[in-house]
Amino acid sequence: MPEESLTITDNRTGASYTVPLFKGAVRAMDLRKIKTGPDDFGLMTYDPAFMNTASCQSAITFIDGDKGILRYRGYPIDVLAEKCTFLEVAYLILNGELPTEPELKEWTRKVTLHTMLHENTKQFMRGFHHDAHPMSMFISTIAALSTFYPAAHDIFSRESRDLQILRLIGKVPTIAAYAYRHSRGLPYVYPDNSLSYPENFMSMLWKMTEPKYEANPALARALDVLFILHADHEQNCSTNTMRAVGSSQADPYVSVAAAAAALSGPLHGGANEEVLRMLDEIGSLDRVPEHIKKVKAGEVKLMGFGHRVYKNYDPRARIIKKAADAVFEVTGRNPKLEIALELERIALQDDYFVKRRLYPNVDFYSGIIYQALGFTPEIFTVLFAIPRTVGWLAQWQELLGDSEQKIARPRQIYTGHDLREFVPIEAREKTPAAVTA
Ligand code: CMC
Repeated sequence: MPEESLTITDNRTGASYTVPLFKGAVRAMDLRKIKTGPDDFGLMTYDPAFMNTASCQSAITFIDGDKGILRYRGYPIDVLAEKCTFLEVAYLILNGELPTEPELKEWTRKVTLHTMLHENTKQFMRGFHHDAHPMSMFISTIAALSTFYPAAHDIFSRESRDLQILRLIGKVPTIAAYAYRHSRGLPYVYPDNSLSYPENFMSMLWKMTEPKYEANPALARALDVLFILHADHEQNCSTNTMRAVGSSQADPYVSVAAAAAALSGPLHGGANEEVLRMLDEIGSLDRVPEHIKKVKAGEVKLMGFGHRVYKNYDPRARIIKKAADAVFEVTGRNPKLEIALELERIALQDDYFVKRRLYPNVDFYSGIIYQALGFTPEIFTVLFAIPRTVGWLAQWQELLGDSEQKIARPRQIYTGHDLREFVPIEAREKTPAAVTA
């Protein structure tokens, strides 16, 4: 009997089975042999929301949620945030190694070649309603890129894949900036390829009549650090979506659009926008205890707190808190920081949060720093999506190279009717819980 195995006794039949362990896990398919008889389908696992299921093997990001550790390709997040640029980290995430100087130069040049959008994309974006949410515009426009690059369907060509990856990384800031300018009624600004990745993004967002936009270096660096922190986070909801859609062999544009849609929800990337709304609602320090009371009564959630994986301080929140100081030196302190700090102080001592191991996550402080940088809350999740595009693409690339992966298709436990007699329309009764508009 292999040492790395489980012995399972089925109390329904008294039969005993040896199930090998694979890297400390049970392969769910090995449980299929556990049957009550030849007609039995075999044992399945039931795991709504994937609370305890590894859906893939991945060599990209490591998280130890109990210890609050996050590493990309083995490098601690705080070291990367201190020493690297976002494009350097993007190279690492996608290629597995940090680039040499010539490699980084070439990589940066290649990404920069793809910052422009087809003019028709601009026309397409002009069609959005004046108050369309920037994240909805972002998602739709990414999906629309699929119509411009039909060769992207050839996902098994390495050459085509690499080209789409460069295009997406080059174009997401441009789409994000156009979505922002659209919601402000401002003309779109073309990319300036003499600028760095974050500076060019800032130029496309905020350039007015000046011939060249000059970004404040401290603010551009803070934005680059925020991009590094958001670049990947293993099998989160949006990455899982990227892999699920990608597993059907859909092209990378529609797959990234689907992943971005998953990110937009308030329990995922949309939380940073909600944090700001919550801080606005609280309004002043003296109203913090009242808000905590509402959270404990289950009336509202403390947005920016809690995480499926981290049961300790999210290391990204710690780095953002530090980066905020550099931003505030330029912009002045965001008064919302005081409210956030007080929320954190009370929550970290309160039994409700301590017992449930709820700590600030990446979104708790990111909104405050984004706001200090000059962004309005509607664009926050788009700012998350720009760097996460790199993570989605790296995970997609990994998926396509993984011989164990097939189309993602979970099972279910059917709870509906057994076979029923058809009822003619004149004999039917009113449906008790029909969808009503
Ligand atoms: N405020 C109050 N209570 C909370 C919170 C919160 N933010 N988060 C979790 N809880 C409670 C929850 O009610 C439950 O209590 P009980 O055991 O009494 O039912 C317990 O803690 C466990 O929570 P859960 O909902 O089972 O945990 P989950 O792993 O399913 O959810 C989460 C994780 C991130 C969706 C959740 O913590 C949450 O909704 N947080 C607020 C939204 C947020 O900040 N999201 C950003 C996540 S990090 C960045 C990203 O993914 O984009």
